[in-house]
Amino acid sequence: MGNYFLHSSSYVDEGAIIGDNTKIWHFSHIMGGAVIGERCNLGQNVFVASGVKVGTNCKIQNNVSLYDGVILEDNVFCGPSMVFTNVKTPRSAFPRNTSSDYLPTVIKSGASIGANATIVCGGTIGRAALVAAGAVVTKDVPDYALVAGVPARIIGWVCECGEKLEFEKNLAKCFHCDREYKKSTDNHVVLI
Ligand SMILES: CC(C)(COP(=O)(O)OP(=O)(O)OC[C@H]1O[C@@H](n2cnc3c(N)ncnc32)[C@H](O)[C@@H]1OP(=O)(O)O)[C@@H](O)C(=O)NCCC(=O)NCCS
Ligand SMILES: [Zn+2]
Repeated sequence: MGNYFLHSSSYVDEGAIIGDNTKIWHFSHIMGGAVIGERCNLGQNVFVASGVKVGTNCKIQNNVSLYDGVILEDNVFCGPSMVFTNVKTPRSAFPRNTSSDYLPTVIKSGASIGANATIVCGGTIGRAALVAAGAVVTKDVPDYALVAGVPARIIGWVCECGEKLEFEKNLAKCFHCDREYKKSTDNHVVLI
């Protein structure tokens, strides 16, 4: 076993890879084949399926299931009880339960997903994007976008540090950390 913390109420199946200094709290289950990076925190009642990859320093709050097809890059925050999906048109009598049936969902580095949000599978949530509490994300979210509502729409932009950005023309400077950003007409925001 690697150098990580596992609460005695939780299970890590054989073949799972868990990075150093990761903590797995109560009533969680990590399946064999899952790969979890260093310094992650998995709260209570977290499930991680076998094909899932989690980067470094991710925080996964209570009651989150990472199903096959979910990829979290580094520094991703999954708020409490947020929901991933991996099949768009599920049927009990016509199961789509082989890995080729699962649509991948990628959460890029630094992104955060608010409490109780739902991510419909098959898309990408951009770098350092922020999904509001309770949003239902149905398409790709651009880097640094703040999205909210059902279905989720862009309602603003956020810095790497999480503060909201105010663009003047196509430039923004974070009042909190001084990072600067440039936006092009197609909602493509980059750090400069
Ligand atoms: C989206 C969010 C970042 C906005 O924060 P904010 O900028 O301080 O928001 P404000 O309270 O100024 O609201 C701005 C507007 O967005 C709306 N809004 C705020 N949160 C919203 C949400 N989750 N869904 C839909 N609309 C939301 C507000 O009603 C307000 O609308 P209005 O201008 O028509 O009155 C925040 O509300 C949020 O959802 N954060 C995630 C929290 C979370 O889940 N944390 C998990 C770990 S504890
Ligand atoms: Zn900032």
